[in-house]
Amino acid sequence: HGTSRINDAGHLEIGGCDVTELKAEYGTPLYILDEQLVRRRCSEYMDAFKASGLGFQVAYASKAFSVMAMCRLADEEGLSLDVVSDGELYTALKAGFPAERIHFHGNNKTSDEIEMAIDAHIGCFVVDNLVELNLLQAIAARKEVTVNILLRVTPGVEAHTHEYTATGQTDSKFGFDIGNGSAYEAVQTAAGKSNLSLLGVHSHIGSQIFETEGFQLAVERVAGFARSVKEGLDVAFRVVNLGGGFGIRYVEGDTPLQVSEYVLAITDAVKTHFAGIYSALPEIWVEPGRSIVGDAGTTLYTVGTNKDIPGVRKYVAVDGGMTDNPRPALYQSKYEALLANRANEAATEKVSIAGKCCESGDMLIWDVELPKAESGDLLAVSCTGAYNYSMASNYNRIRRPAVVFVQNGLRDLVVRRETHNDLIANDIVPARIAKQAV
Ligand code: LLP
Repeated sequence: HGTSRINDAGHLEIGGCDVTELKAEYGTPLYILDEQLVRRRCSEYMDAFKASGLGFQVAYASKAFSVMAMCRLADEEGLSLDVVSDGELYTALKAGFPAERIHFHGNNKTSDEIEMAIDAHIGCFVVDNLVELNLLQAIAARKEVTVNILLRVTPGVEAHTHEYTATGQTDSKFGFDIGNGSAYEAVQTAAGKSNLSLLGVHSHIGSQIFETEGFQLAVERVAGFARSVKEGLDVAFRVVNLGGGFGIRYVEGDTPLQVSEYVLAITDAVKTHFAGIYSALPEIWVEPGRSIVGDAGTTLYTVGTNKDIPGVRKYVAVDGGMTDNPRPALYQSKYEALLANRANEAATEKVSIAGKCCESGDMLIWDVELPKAESGDLLAVSCTGAYNYSMASNYNRIRRPAVVFVQNGLRDLVVRRETHNDLIANDIVPARIAKQAV
């Protein structure tokens, strides 16, 4: 998919770059991002919303992959940005991302984070709870500014990967529940805060969702809520943010919709359910993360050892693992892989791809058909653009990999590989136990 292909040498090529050359230049493990595919996903969202005729913002959920170069791409493509911490905010600001298009999320923002975001003049806070509402009002009043807010509500729709349920969401750490009246009270409280400007509401129902029904049901619930708030409190929502969660294809059998189909389902539902509540339809904001960067990412590894347990299983170990991709261990996520330096050879055996961390759960893929992998071969695991680099760790003091953008035969390093010195950069040895210099 994307700009990937197998070249005449039988090597995987992404964005016109032969992965064996990428390995020679940057080493492995290496995160490779297909820049054209990221840009295409961005414009699919922008174009679909433009076609809807509604006012909109598409905010890239930077938690999926937050680095300065990615913030630049999102800005160039006209997207807004969702940040959830001072670190993601700092990254965006340092990348020159326009502050007025930054939205700040999170269920426990600290006063320092709130101050930093107000001082940067970000576009909007998504307020999660009453403590935050009061804190934000107090800080804004002290600074004599008015800040835009959305209230995060839980619409009573909980979406899982392959299904959604219309109950249960009351028990969530996020947001004000529509069902038990706390969202209604929050609107009333927020509307009375002199330094807060209530733009509307936000709802996020889950991640890696394939069906549109959950989103449509959420729109219906939020519209019902909007109607009661309009009638009871005379408060109108100019903005309705429907969060992220649009699924991608990781492995054969995953059946996500096209971006345009998700957008159409949502915008149609808005047109249906918000009809007649206000004189104009609200602006629709969304926050895709995974569906912007997920399938554009590939992780390149070098094969090392193997362990053949006759009749049981063959393990093939690579030079990364749960440190660069914790998703299989955390969520039993499935991935596909190919032998990237012998990509046109037929598969001859079923193997399981192990990482190099000191625990048995450090597996990347159980049971994948590959040509016989030898030490030194390259293994490419696809669809690692989202929640891989951003969730990477230094467990076992393994250095986090480099990230390279590829497009049109050009490669640009956007994150350099960590060094041994990076690993000990924050370590302090108290003088009383320090080894004395001789
Ligand atoms: N907006 C809000 C409020 C969110 O909580 C999230 C994701 C998104 C947007 C973006 O959702 P996306 O379009 O990427 O599905 N680490 C997990 C995923 C956690 C998602 C957390 N929230 C994983 O690797 O699957």
